[in-house]
Order: sequence, then C-alpha cells, then structure tokens
Amino acid sequence: MQIKAITGNPAKIRTGALIVPHYEGEKSPSSDAALLDKALGGLISRIVREGDVKGKSGEITVVHTTKDVLAGRIVIVGMGRKRAVTLDKIRANVGAACRYISGKDVTTLAVAVRDGGIKGASDTDIIQTVTEGVILGLYSFNKYKTKKEQDATEVSRVKIMGKNSAGMNAAIERGKIIAEAVNWTRDLVNEPANNMTPTILAEAAISQAEKSGMGIEVFDKDKIAELGMGGLMGVSQGSQQPPKFIIMTYKGTNSDKIDIALVGKGITFDSGGISIKPSENMADMKGDMAGAASVLGTLVAIAKLKPSINVTAICPATENLPSGTALKPGDVITALNGKTMEILNTDAEGRLILADALSYAVNLGAKKIIDVATLTGACQIALGNICTGAFGNNQPFMNNVLDAGEQAGEYVWQMPMFPEYEELIKSTVADIKNTGGRYGGAITAAKFLEEFVGRTPWVHLDIAGTSDTDKDKGYNARGATGIPVRTLITLIQNMSRRTK
Ligand code: BES
Ligand code: MN
Ligand code: ZN
Repeated sequence: MQIKAITGNPAKIRTGALIVPHYEGEKSPSSDAALLDKALGGLISRIVREGDVKGKSGEITVVHTTKDVLAGRIVIVGMGRKRAVTLDKIRANVGAACRYISGKDVTTLAVAVRDGGIKGASDTDIIQTVTEGVILGLYSFNKYKTKKEQDATEVSRVKIMGKNSAGMNAAIERGKIIAEAVNWTRDLVNEPANNMTPTILAEAAISQAEKSGMGIEVFDKDKIAELGMGGLMGVSQGSQQPPKFIIMTYKGTNSDKIDIALVGKGITFDSGGISIKPSENMADMKGDMAGAASVLGTLVAIAKLKPSINVTAICPATENLPSGTALKPGDVITALNGKTMEILNTDAEGRLILADALSYAVNLGAKKIIDVATLTGACQIALGNICTGAFGNNQPFMNNVLDAGEQAGEYVWQMPMFPEYEELIKSTVADIKNTGGRYGGAITAAKFLEEFVGRTPWVHLDIAGTSDTDKDKGYNARGATGIPVRTLITLIQNMSRRTK
C-alpha cells in the first residue's frame, strides 16, 4: 500500500473515498467538510441540518457524489465533541472509517482530518496518527478464507491531507513503521496454533531480524536444558513440539549494556495441561503468545526508528499440553536462578517460563526489564478488556510506562504489589508455589514473577484482557489488537530522547 502526503482543496482529490470529520454539536460542516459542502452546493450542510449526521464518535455516513467533487464518495466520520478530541480518537475513528471502506469496492482513499486543536499535538503528530489509523483500520486476517468475499478489493493507494508539506512525509513514514509492526504482531497472534508452533514463531523472528539487521539467537531444547531453564523445560515436556528460547537484539549505542530487556510470554497454545481448561473458548488460547509477538513486533519497529539505546527481546516459547509426559500437580521444578517452584496448577504455566526468561534477562545485566504476558484470567476480571494491568517494583520506571501508555493511546492501569501478597505464594515443600488462590490472582502472579528480577527496575504488563477483542471497534478488528506494541515503542523512544 502506497501512502502519500498532499495539501490543497479536498474537492480536487481524485479518489475512491474521501474521509472527513464532523464534530458533535456543530450545526454546519467545518474546515475540509465545509470546502466539500461548498463544492456540492450545500449538500453536507443539509444532511447535518436534517439530523442524519450528528457527529457522535464513530458514526459513519457515506455520501455518493456528483462531478462537482472528484472523490467518488465522501465518508463523514463522527469525531465526538471538538473539545474532547484526542489523537487516539482520531486514530480510532479514521480506523473505523477505513475498515468500513475496505468492505466496499474501493481501491484508493484519502483522509482529510487535519484541523487539530489538540493540546500538545503538532500537525505532524496528527498526520502520523491518521497514518496509523488507516493501516490499523484496513487490517484483516483472512488468509484462510478460500472464497474471498467483497472485501477482496484492497485499498492500494492512500492520500493523507496536511496543512503544509513540512515534515509530512517523515510523519507518514513513522506512522507506517509503527502500524505495520502492530499488524505483524496481530498476524502472529491470529495465526492458528497448528501454524504457530514455537519453531514457527522462532523462524518468523529470525526472518524479521535478518531483514532489519538485528541480532537473533534461538536456543533449542538441548541448550535450554543445558542452561538449566527448568520452567520452560517443565511446561514443554507434555508436548511433541520442542520449546524455543528466542533472543532478538537491537543495538542503538556503542556500549554492550542492555538498556531495556523486553520479555514476552510465548505459549503458542495453552490447553491448561493436566489441569485442563474447559473446552469453551479454549480456541482463544492460540493467542497465549501475544506477549512474545508484541515484544518482537516492537523490535521490528525499533530497528527502523533507530533510537539511541540498546533493546533486547527475550521470548520463551512452548505449548502447554496434557500427555503422559506432562508436568503434574505436585511436581517441583527448578528455575534458571535456582529457585524451586511447586506446581499446584499446570494451567499457571506462563509464570514458570517467564521465571527463566526474567532470570536470563537479569543475568545479561539488563538495566531495566518489562515483561508482557497474557498471564491471568484474574486480570481480565479485574480490569475488563479495557486496560492492561501494570505491576512493578520501581515507581519512577512504572511512571514512565504509564506515561508511554497514555501517549500511545493504550490504557494501562497500575495494580498494587504490597508485600502481604507474598504470603499467598509461599510453598510448604518448595521456595514458592505457582498459584496463590482465586483472590487477587493477577497480583499473586506478578508477585511470583518478582521473585526472578532481583533488584532490576521491572514492570510486568498483564495483557490477558487486552491482547484480543471479540468485536470490530475503532482501529481494532475482531481478533488480535497488537497491544501493547505502541506503548513499548513510545517508552523506548522516550528513553532514547532522555539520554540525549
Ligand atoms: N493464558 C492463561 C490466562 C488467560 C486467560 C489469558 C484468559 C487470556 C484469557 C494463563 O496461562 C492461565 O491459565 N492462568 C490461570 C492461572 C490460574 C490457574 C492460577 C488463570 O488465570 O485462570
Ligand atoms: Mn494457563
Ligand atoms: Zn497461559
């Protein structure tokens, strides 16, 4: 898909569909919509006056045109009240309009959403955001449909209107890099587990790393055993698929120090193991590698954005299946850092493989660590599908992550980590046990992980509720969202800026 920046009068754009905003409560079209209205002899004014367009956030109205404007259709997208418009509202509503168009017979589109007025956002920020909205909104996962439906018509050319051309192409390029990385992450997560084994995930990481000039190392089963990664070995022992341990490295400085390690849970299918899950919704557990996909996706974008810090992604990958060789409740295993873990529920497997990966990041000397995991149903119960849960051991670093989430338009909510929760995961036979009971399940899971990060500033993001969605909304189509790739990219860029 080609995306170009343009300026000028929207009535003069030759395109299949032209997206313009309307704001709630405004009695007549403004700016670009007003220019089109004029060319169309007051048609949009009439639609607004007669109440068909109200401007509510997400509302979509299509107007087919006459030869007075060169666009085949005008798509009027509601933005809500002008004062309440944020970058993420623009991203979401442009995204929703694009998804609407992608079901029609349209191959070219243009977006004229350029009248900002958003506090702290520049004109180029808006261009970047619109670019993201377009690429995220046009995303679909239909590779397994043998009969392509109408939405087979793909949008191939996009024009984005700006106020003046300064910095526009660079802003489009940034938006493209970020949104394409999110879509790559979504593709990995949406892929069914029979085609997204640990081996295939590792191959995808290798091919991306080679394309973008990053370092990549993949440990196989023998190496994982030799290193003493008892968590990853234990979880994988019930499966026919061998585990992998993936390390992707971006270097932005001459130093060898890792400024931040991103650790991602890579369970390519989570049946629960011997503590098997109910069949209902078990298919969703093909997405239990969303943490791994998101940290790898983040690095793919980082390799192109080139911030001046060193970032390493670390992903333990395995299936969690029941069999005669599987881990059993009551078993005790030893993590890479020597701590012993009693298995009370084989479905609490994510923390077992993360124990090794976090220990590994500490051993590498990472200055900071973030882990991303579809870790607990309890987090989904606590926060719904709206916010990612954040847990940590260092408030300044936590604040940086929360700020990045806010800037990126991805909700992140901090959860408590009082020492009293530690009591709940003390084991009578080993150092710790892998469940802390039903109450506070997201927190006790985080407390478990904390045992493996030592004193390194660390944040754990539980994306169990946010990594996928069951309905089309804003720039998200049903399926994987790609959360929290934009937050992580923003955090890394902010860290890089602070070093300058
Ligand atoms: N992968 C699941 C968590 C999950 C649940 C992610 C729903 C996305 C949606 C995780 O491995 C799991 O099964 N956790 C258990 C832990 C429990 C046994 C302590 C849970 O949350 O029920
Ligand atoms: Mn599980
Ligand atoms: Zn899991």
